[in-house]
Amino acid sequence: MRVLLEPKFEGVLNGNVINGRVLARLVHNEVRQHAKALAAEGLRLKLVVVRVGDDDASRLYVGHKIKACKRDHVLSESIHFPKAVSEKTVLAKIAELNANIRVDGILIQLPLPSHISTDAVQRAVDPAKDVDGFHRQNLGGMIARHSLLEPCTPGGVLVMLASLGVKIKGKHAVIVGRSLIAGRSTAAMLLRANATVTTCHRHTENLKQYVQLADILVSATGIAHLIKGDWIKPGAVVIDVGINRKKNGKLVGDVDFEEAKKNAGAITPVPGGVGPMTVAMLLWNTYKASVERRGGDVSTYWPLGLGQ
Ligand code: GUN
Repeated sequence: MRVLLEPKFEGVLNGNVINGRVLARLVHNEVRQHAKALAAEGLRLKLVVVRVGDDDASRLYVGHKIKACKRDHVLSESIHFPKAVSEKTVLAKIAELNANIRVDGILIQLPLPSHISTDAVQRAVDPAKDVDGFHRQNLGGMIARHSLLEPCTPGGVLVMLASLGVKIKGKHAVIVGRSLIAGRSTAAMLLRANATVTTCHRHTENLKQYVQLADILVSATGIAHLIKGDWIKPGAVVIDVGINRKKNGKLVGDVDFEEAKKNAGAITPVPGGVGPMTVAMLLWNTYKASVERRGGDVSTYWPLGLGQ
């Protein structure tokens, strides 16, 4: 049976292809409106991004985030440490940012060099400023119920499904990949939304048999074209979180898009699918962090009035 789709915004679903850029733009517009209204009261939203070392992808991603801040009327600061920086120095900077009342959101770009403990750094960020949602307090809150700040990519996936009017309750969601950043958190959110959730990962035997049963498929492995088009159940909603660069420079997802498109009820492309939603949700989290830290209340959990 096809998954019911009732798109709530024009241009987000073209045929069966989901346009993440159009949806992300709507979220950015909402953040910008809030940011401008707060600025009129003398309060500027501010995000600080910390990057360590010279990872090319990280430099690119941070660039996107800083540009998005500018577009959304949010102040930003990019702090870059050399690869050899000590963990102590990074932790001292985080403590300084935690104490700075003008800073609403702190993001530590991953990966960090191996001599720095990712766990220690993530735990050092004030949970109220943890716009990545990676602090244990926020991750735990997400499992128990909700936390104020939840990971951006999974949040973007849930907002995408809500924007398409997908009824998640009772559906079989199959997640491929179990990273905290993507697969594991997406599984937790879909379970919370009353899906029946199967989480597959690198040790799963016969991946195909699970993928074939998915009403909603979310793949987040970073393995180009792992998911074959003929594995997709007719009418399934396919969300491809993978961003993989092929030898010829072309970006592709985890799913064989052209083949999967023939079966899917709706499918995200790569690029232009989930990627833009991650950045949009980061800005949404920055807005949320600012309001809630000052004792206010953000009216809906997700942007665009999509509730939860
Ligand atoms: N590196 C790759 N994706 C992410 C992300 O969502 N947040 C951070 N902080 N680093 C990343």
